[in-house]
Amino acid sequence: MSERWSPSSWRDLPIEQSPVYPDLGALAAAEAQLATFPPLVFAGEARKLKRQLAKVAMGEAFLLQGGDCAESFAEHSADNIRDFFRVLLQMAVVLTYAAASPVVKVGRIAGQFAKPRSSPTEVIDGVELPIYRGDIVNGTEATPAARIPDPRRQLEAYRQSAATLNLLRAFASGGYANLDFVHQWMLGFVKESPQSGRYREVADRIADALNFMRACGIDPESHPELRTTDFFTSHEALLLGFEQALTRVDSTTGDWYATSGHMIWIGDRTRQLDHAHVEYARGVKNPIGLKCGPSLKPDELMRLIDVLDPDNEPGRLTLIARFGADRVFDHLPGLTRAVKAEGRKVVWSCDPMHGNTIKSASGYKTRPFDRILQEARAFFEVHRAEGTYAGGIHVEMTGNNVTECTGGARAISDSDLRDRYHTHCDPRLNAEQAIELAFLVAEELKKERVARGPRQVVAAE
Ligand code: PEP
Ligand code: CO
Repeated sequence: MSERWSPSSWRDLPIEQSPVYPDLGALAAAEAQLATFPPLVFAGEARKLKRQLAKVAMGEAFLLQGGDCAESFAEHSADNIRDFFRVLLQMAVVLTYAAASPVVKVGRIAGQFAKPRSSPTEVIDGVELPIYRGDIVNGTEATPAARIPDPRRQLEAYRQSAATLNLLRAFASGGYANLDFVHQWMLGFVKESPQSGRYREVADRIADALNFMRACGIDPESHPELRTTDFFTSHEALLLGFEQALTRVDSTTGDWYATSGHMIWIGDRTRQLDHAHVEYARGVKNPIGLKCGPSLKPDELMRLIDVLDPDNEPGRLTLIARFGADRVFDHLPGLTRAVKAEGRKVVWSCDPMHGNTIKSASGYKTRPFDRILQEARAFFEVHRAEGTYAGGIHVEMTGNNVTECTGGARAISDSDLRDRYHTHCDPRLNAEQAIELAFLVAEELKKERVARGPRQVVAAE
């Protein structure tokens, strides 16, 4: 890897998971057009997220990152975005209240379109087709024509991201996130579930606290932090031509930023040290995530950290562990020890989804909810044992009442999966499962705080 970096230096390196576009002229035209479009996010916002993640790296806050596996053009509605946002707010409230920890909220949204796949083709009804790679690349329909990568989809993804972000900004700052509405965030179909009772208790106590504070003269009208929230976007930076077109120089610092989202991450299949995705990510100043799967060895991780975070800047790098419930104890301790031994100030987050995907007896791709909980628990246990901070959770979830992951309070069974299996890619937690997971994480976070004792003051360097 040479020292020189530019938004296009990744093009000289080998690349995994890159779609093959039949019409390179059309691809170049789409990328050229994207390069003229306004940025989706601003450098100052990415820096704000980095400051908040620095607090997570120091054990003073918790990262909640969640959203769709893959956003879809067909399901782009205000209701979907609102319902997702409500559930994420509910999870954040549970974590903030039950674990007394500030929560950094990051959506897998407004740009989460491109998907890495384990096989380049699939067989449907005896016909072999190129695999679906996300709506930004090709279509889900089971026809050869739909599966041809179409660069115009990148323009559509940009426009959808802009519209989604516009609504999210309004929700975050326009009053929807006002803590006075903590009861209203509960979705209709969740109201009858066991999780809703637990949530209502938390919401009641928050309402009491707000009433007390109001009596003391502190209310959401005079204190914007009670009626607004910071919400950030993230996605896997997989489609590098798209990312390059939205890579811009920040006029205040002269630094390069990915303006396609506040945080970008590198997937488990594209994290090769000398390849294109790591090359692209090292040159932009955004907070970066790195998926860490079972094949990642400690020395390889340390070399990736050297490249991606040479200045050991807290908040720059989030390591997202995704091993599978049974494999956490085999892999995570070695990685945390190597990171700790070199004094690296990273955020450790747990993706309990991607290592626990199975094919059910009825043929659906699913994830047993108890395995998801088990992986999250194991993640916290390892960090407690190693004296490191379990700083975040990364989930695939939706505000829709789907049946994609088995188990949970309603004990979704294999035969229930067909009822409302809507995902375009991986199975997501539904609202009830997401809130149940938040309660479990809050419990683990409380244990972690007790184990660590009173908060230590981290000396500034
Ligand atoms: C994802 O987060 O959607 C994903 C594909 O994850 P991973 O790279 O960890 O498999
Ligand atoms: Co996924």
